[in-house]
Order: sequence, then structure tokens, then C-alpha cells
Amino acid sequence: MEKYVISGGKTLNGDVFISGGKNAAVAIIPATVMVRGTCVIENMPNITDVRLLLSMLKDMGADVEFLAPGIVRVNCSNINSFVSDHEGVRKIRASYYFMGSLLGRFSAARVGLPGGCDFGVRPIDQHMKGFEALGAEISIEHGIVNMKAEKLVGTSIYLDTRSVGATINIVLAATLAEGTTVIENACREPHIVDTANFLNTMGADIKGAGTDVIKIKGVKSLHGGKYSIIPDQIEAGTYMVAAAATGGKVAVRNIIPKHMETVSAKLTEIGVTVEEFDDYIVVSRDPAKKLMKTKIKTMPYPGFPTDMQPQLSALLCLAEGTSIVTEGVWDNRFRYIEELRKLGAKADVDGKICVIEGVDRFLGAKVHACDLRAGAAMVIAGLCAEGITEVSDIKYVERGYENFVEKLRKLGANISKEKDDEAEPEDSKFCDVG
Ligand code: EPU
Repeated sequence: MEKYVISGGKTLNGDVFISGGKNAAVAIIPATVMVRGTCVIENMPNITDVRLLLSMLKDMGADVEFLAPGIVRVNCSNINSFVSDHEGVRKIRASYYFMGSLLGRFSAARVGLPGGCDFGVRPIDQHMKGFEALGAEISIEHGIVNMKAEKLVGTSIYLDTRSVGATINIVLAATLAEGTTVIENACREPHIVDTANFLNTMGADIKGAGTDVIKIKGVKSLHGGKYSIIPDQIEAGTYMVAAAATGGKVAVRNIIPKHMETVSAKLTEIGVTVEEFDDYIVVSRDPAKKLMKTKIKTMPYPGFPTDMQPQLSALLCLAEGTSIVTEGVWDNRFRYIEELRKLGAKADVDGKICVIEGVDRFLGAKVHACDLRAGAAMVIAGLCAEGITEVSDIKYVERGYENFVEKLRKLGANISKEKDDEAEPEDSKFCDVG
């Protein structure tokens, strides 16, 4: 196991190039199962979650080859089984997208339940509701979800809870179904639009992605093609907050500024300068000026993203006054506050609400990454802490941030990856972030 060692206090300056979106990539990779032909996918982030899903595809019989960094060629024509029993299933949440895509292709799927939970209960009842409505019979035995349908037939499905995963999974299963499926109360996240765009490029007929009503007219088959994944909105937001936390001036490039609107608005509100251009945003802050308190409530897109909550909370620990952060998506996404306290934060959690009293500075300490975004928050805090901060359990962080250390160092951060002698053995615990 490795850890990050950060010597804080350096301002970040320069350009950072954002990689392809994790949460789009982890849906698009399973979606290729339904394509008869070769998909060439560009802007594929080189992160653990992506490597794991690609190895699951390979295990199922797909041809997978990296043509160049960030460009992967996938051909799933040779997959002839509807079973995904790779050990990775229990490690990664997004493995549940194989349920939708295998069901779509074979009218049957046998996929392990995604693993234990990291920030509260993470049910998949809405995914099941959708699959059943399309005609699948479902049984769960020994942690394996078995689904079978004579054929999938389009229908109307109202999601009782706004769920990104359920929206995408139902879109996947409905793509090759007979007739039209309408998903109401669908999520609107950019990665949902990207997954629909990928499928449409391969011949699907999906309309309304990005709104809360998605219509999928089933098609007979999908053909190969070329697609480029959208930039990672959360990676971009993380660098924006890091720039704001350390002071300095950073151009966050290769992004879609529209996707960043809520993060940009909050940063502006607390006293950070955010300038928007066509495909980049410049974030700057005079370190001599104090940041101001604010209130945040996380919500599905276009609300403030839950996946930016830990990073922004870390920043608010250094803002003047009392900030209130309400987590509106997950039940238990404040475990990392305990770690921020080790750096000197003054914050209290009561259920889904965190009250943060701004302090003048963080002091370096040993902390650990509770999950992917919590880990990013620790790094941000470490970058502006006085002295040395060590962040352990970085395997969670590396699931979602491509070349995190390299990109930060290029901006002037003093951060390195080192062997962690105190770490627990690799597989003694796992969590399913993302
Ligand atoms: N929910 C249900 N029933 C369901 C599905 C979800 O009650 O069948 C509830 C969940 O318990 C939660 C809420 O609905 O309270 C939202 O869950 P959602 O299904 O939208 O989350 P997800 O699809 O499992 C994705 C991202 C997460 C991100 C959430 C919310 C991927 C692979 N993961 O998870 O990303 O937090 O949407 O935006 O797309 C991350 O990248 O760090 C990450 C955790």
C-alpha cells in the first residue's frame, strides 16, 4: 500500500488538463457488451475503476486493447455468456451496469451484488423495479442477482428515488427491448447524457437524456463506432477547490464549464475568482483575503454535486464564520470530518448536517482516505496545511483521479507517493466508492 506525503503551503499555479469522466466511463464500458462491432473510445481515464471494468469485460470474452494512452478499442462480439462473476464485482459499484447491459443483450444476466457500503445504505431497488417492469424475473441467491426474461418489452417506469445508477441501468436494458420505454423522474447528470450519446452513436434511439423524462425506442442491434468520453466534472471541481484552497491561479482545461456551474457559483460566493472560457475555467484567489462562510445542500444534477461535498467542506474549514453543509443524497457521507479534525478543523456532524466553524489554518497530520472524494478532500487540506500531511488508504483516491500526484506537482504542489509501512494488507478491507 502507498500513501501521499504532502508538504503543505505551496500555492498552485499553471494549467491542469482534466481526464475523461469516471462516472461516464464506468457506464460506457459495460454498455459496449450490447454492441456487435468494434467501439473505439477516446478520453478513457486511466484509473483503477476503469482498468477493473475492462478486465471484467476481457474475462467475459471481449477483445480489449489500448491503442494509445486514453484510447481503447473494445469488441464484445465474442461474449457468449450472460454471467459476470469476476471478483471485481464486489469491489466496484459500477459493476451493476453489467446487469442492464447483459440483460439487454441476452435477456438474461447473472451478476454479483455490488459490494458493501461506504456512505450509508446503497440499495438497488429502483434498478430492479426497472428490470422487472421490462419483463425480467429476478431472484437473488447467495449474493448473485439472476435475471431472465422471455423478451424485454418497453414500458413506462417512474423512479421513486432519483438514482443515477438506476436511470443508466434502465436505459441500458431498454436499448434493445421491443417497443418504447419511458423513464420518469430520471436523473439528469452529464454522465447519463454521455452514456445515452454513446449508445445513440452506436445506433440506439434515446431521447430526453439530460431531462427528467427519457424515452428509449428499442432498436434491433447496435453497431460499432467511435466515441469520446466527456471530461470529468468532479475531477475538474477538485482542482478548482484545490486552487482556491492554496491561493494562486490555475487554469482547469479540457472541461465543459456548464457542468461546473454550481461549483463555480459557490466558489464565487465565498470570495474566489472564477473566470469561464469556452473549454476551461481559471480559478484564482488572493491568499491574503479570507474566504467567506456559506451554506451548501447537495442534490442531484443540476444541484450541488454530492461528489464535491467533501472537497468543498475542507475549504470551508478555512472560511471565516460558520458554514452549514447538508448532504441531500447519501445517508453517511461525513465520516471524513473526523480526519479533518486531526488537521485542526472545527466541525460537528449531526446526521446529514455538518456545521463548520472556520479556523485560520490546518496543521499537518496523519489522516486516511475514507473513500474516493474524502481522500481528495484530505489532499486539498494537506496542500494548505502547515507542515507534513500523510494521507493513507490512497487506493480509494486512485480509483477516480488519473495521475493525481503528477498533475498536482505540475501545478507546484509538494506531494509524493510513498510506501506505507503502517498500512493494513491490501485486501483486508474494501469499499465501493463511486
Ligand atoms: N437509491 C435508492 N434505490 C436505488 C438506487 C439508489 O434508494 O435503487 C438511493 C441511494 O441510496 C442514494 C440515492 O438514491 O441515497 C442516489 O443514489 P444513486 O443511485 O444516484 O447513486 P449511484 O448511481 O450508486 C452515482 C455515482 C456516485 C455519486 C452518485 C450521486 C457512479 C458510478 N457513481 O452513484 O459517485 O455519488 O451517483 O450523484 O456513477 C463518486 O464518484 O465519488 C461517487 C460516489
